[in-house]
Amino acid sequence: MTMHPMIKLADGNLMPQLGLGVWRASNEETMTAVTEALKTGYRAIDTAAIYKNEEGVGQALKAANLPREQVFITTKLWNADQKHTQKALEESLRKLQLDYVDLYLIHWPLPQQDSYADAWRGLIKLQEQGLAKSIGVSNFHPHHLQRLKDETGILPVINQIELHPLMQQRPLNTWNATHHIQTESWSPLAQGGEGVFDQPIIRTLAIKYGKTPAQIVIRWHLDNGFVVIPKSVTPTRIQENFDVFDFRLDKEELSEIAKLDCGKRLGPDPDAPRQ
Ligand SMILES: NC(=O)c1ccc[n+]([C@@H]2O[C@H](COP(=O)([O-])OP(=O)(O)OC[C@H]3O[C@@H](n4cnc5c(N)ncnc54)[C@H](OP(=O)(O)O)[C@@H]3O)[C@@H](O)[C@H]2O)c1
Repeated sequence: MTMHPMIKLADGNLMPQLGLGVWRASNEETMTAVTEALKTGYRAIDTAAIYKNEEGVGQALKAANLPREQVFITTKLWNADQKHTQKALEESLRKLQLDYVDLYLIHWPLPQQDSYADAWRGLIKLQEQGLAKSIGVSNFHPHHLQRLKDETGILPVINQIELHPLMQQRPLNTWNATHHIQTESWSPLAQGGEGVFDQPIIRTLAIKYGKTPAQIVIRWHLDNGFVVIPKSVTPTRIQENFDVFDFRLDKEELSEIAKLDCGKRLGPDPDAPRQ
């Protein structure tokens, strides 16, 4: 099996740098995809309560029968549950058939609801109870993170944000890094559209290394030090996306890809009003 890199989080826990995302996959698709991923060598899965496929993750984990400490499971607290953290995580754990998750994230700050700081206090308690080994957030801007620090003195160990070559979020990455918060990239392949895969620099590097455009993009995340969770329900792509540990991009190649940044968001701005 390919050995893949682990990242040490600020709380001392280790997290695989490459995992499988399962957004927009049904329970059945998720069960098949996670089974394929675990067979391929993945040891990290990223789900969320709102994806409604935690059962599929749980069934695949149970069938794989791996020692619990060998897999790293992330799930997320949905917006409507920010005031019910204990109940929400217990429900996720029931669906996942687990006693604890490795990482629990607040999915969105949803500032107009003004409950993310309370939710963060809830996550701190869940970590103290051992129900979540590590706690973090997703889609937080520096001013949201600063508020968590001001109110609780505790910063998340992860900030999972939209990040791909077209949307590189450099000021936010720098803020994360300065505060020992690991950046994790969501929609790392820009959702698989031709927008990234067709870029000449990505195509040139794919030819140079004998890899696919998706593998070049995943390698770009890894070589920048991000945790990366490409999603696929296609077995050949699940394998392809994990076959990235036999080459590296050099500094010049990384800076060429850095030039693709055009601030193009595929998801909403975390400060924009939403449900
Ligand atoms: N925290 C948040 O707010 C948030 C938001 C969005 C996503 N996420 C997380 O991040 C994960 C990844 O993001 P994402 O699902 O939005 O998008 P993504 O990983 O950037 O792209 C997934 C798309 O790319 C296709 N794909 C995968 N590998 C490919 C390959 N090797 N070649 C060509 N196409 C390929 C997939 O198709 P097939 O599946 O059909 O193979 C799917 O359509 C999610 O699953 C979720 O876990 C979190």
